[in-house]
Amino acid sequence: MAGDEDGKGGRGGGPISRRQLLRGGVALGAAATLGGLAGCARGDADGDPATRTAGDDGTMQRQPFRGPHQAGIVTSTQAAAVVAAFDVLGRDRERLRELLRRLTGRIAFLAEGGPVPRLDPRLPPAGSGLLGPQVFPDNLTVTVGVGASLFDARFGLAALKPRQLVEMPAFPNDALDAARCDGDLLLQICSNTAETNLHALRDIVRHLSGFVSLRWTQDGFLPPHTVQKLGRDSIINLMGFKDGTANPDAADAGLMARLVWVQPEQGEPAWATGGSYQVVRIIRNFVEFWDRTPLREQERIMGRHKDTGAPLGMRREHDVPDYAADPDGALTPLDAHIRLANPRTPGTRQILRRAFNYSNGMTRAGQLDMGLLFVCYQSDLAQGFVAAQTRLDGEPLEEYVKPVGGGYWFALPGVRDADGHLGEGLFAG
Ligand code: HEM
Repeated sequence: MAGDEDGKGGRGGGPISRRQLLRGGVALGAAATLGGLAGCARGDADGDPATRTAGDDGTMQRQPFRGPHQAGIVTSTQAAAVVAAFDVLGRDRERLRELLRRLTGRIAFLAEGGPVPRLDPRLPPAGSGLLGPQVFPDNLTVTVGVGASLFDARFGLAALKPRQLVEMPAFPNDALDAARCDGDLLLQICSNTAETNLHALRDIVRHLSGFVSLRWTQDGFLPPHTVQKLGRDSIINLMGFKDGTANPDAADAGLMARLVWVQPEQGEPAWATGGSYQVVRIIRNFVEFWDRTPLREQERIMGRHKDTGAPLGMRREHDVPDYAADPDGALTPLDAHIRLANPRTPGTRQILRRAFNYSNGMTRAGQLDMGLLFVCYQSDLAQGFVAAQTRLDGEPLEEYVKPVGGGYWFALPGVRDADGHLGEGLFAG
């Protein structure tokens, strides 16, 4: 399904608001051009945020659904996220394929936008109505990953499992809650607003009724004013530090091919080319304790200045630390988070982080329950996340954080053809 595509508008026409769209004078196809222009946030992968004007509420920002890779990986981080893990019901391979077809159709529609069909009022309405009669894209991406459990005996897919895909093990500082871990499928839903994410989630849950059961969800958010700002400003996490500074440049296609996208020569099953290993970690932050920790201590734990985000002893956020000139850690402690996470030695492989903050209210013990919804992508799980996490095991930051959930998934390659569907390579032959 796709939205209306026959209207006017575009670059010369100025920003297209949702109101204009609802008046029917402007087409979604034309607005797609604007969506590209109005792409927002860091990395500038989607367009020039400077063109977003006061009248543009961002509802018509659109991320293309089709392509060699799924959207929502190198896409500039949106302000709102929800990750939702599902288990697939039954053991029927054809039914799994039908599930993936339906899911593809819904994501394609939600990312494009369009009118909600009007049905006989004696029937349930066609949609939840959360976005009104005209679904608008709102910069939505829905990224689908498959877990190791999908390759068990149920669907006869064992031989096609990505080589490094396993159930996420517990690392030494973890206190994993099984109710918030793993799942056959993971949807990473991101857009400009929580409402658009909830609309997408409800739409998908409704259309996959009888095919999947929901296992767990976690909402996330980023400061919208930073996400929408021009430039390379990083968002601030709930420990008050700029986060994302040293991320590899997601707009650099060559770099992403090396770090993020599975390549044909990697020895992975052929269908996995263009996909990516996806790691999700729900990491609680003990913020009361952190807020009572001296600033100097906080900065030495992270390895960066809290206000500027600059490496210790430097002035600007994107200054590059010189660890070779500081072999004993006089400036940046040897166990500082950024130094362990990326010692900047030959052979250290970068990962693409795409984290969100989260807040789940409070615990029964009366503490704030908030933290980091850590998400990262890489073409090699062992050399990427696992190597970084292993270096971080025992870091001083552990006193202030506790991973409680998450898992490993394999983000499927993108859908290139109009009649293709997510995961179709799993059914070839
Ligand atoms: C609550 C947990 C965490 C917090 C609060 C946190 C915070 C930060 C901060 C403030 C930075 C510096 C700014 C930046 O370059 O983005 C950073 C960098 C980084 N973090 Fe984390 N992080 C957490 C967990 C993790 C985990 C689980 C991993 C991976 C296993 C990780 C990997 C990295 C990497 C690779 C860098 C970039 C280092 C560099 O290239 O200089 N972080 N983190």
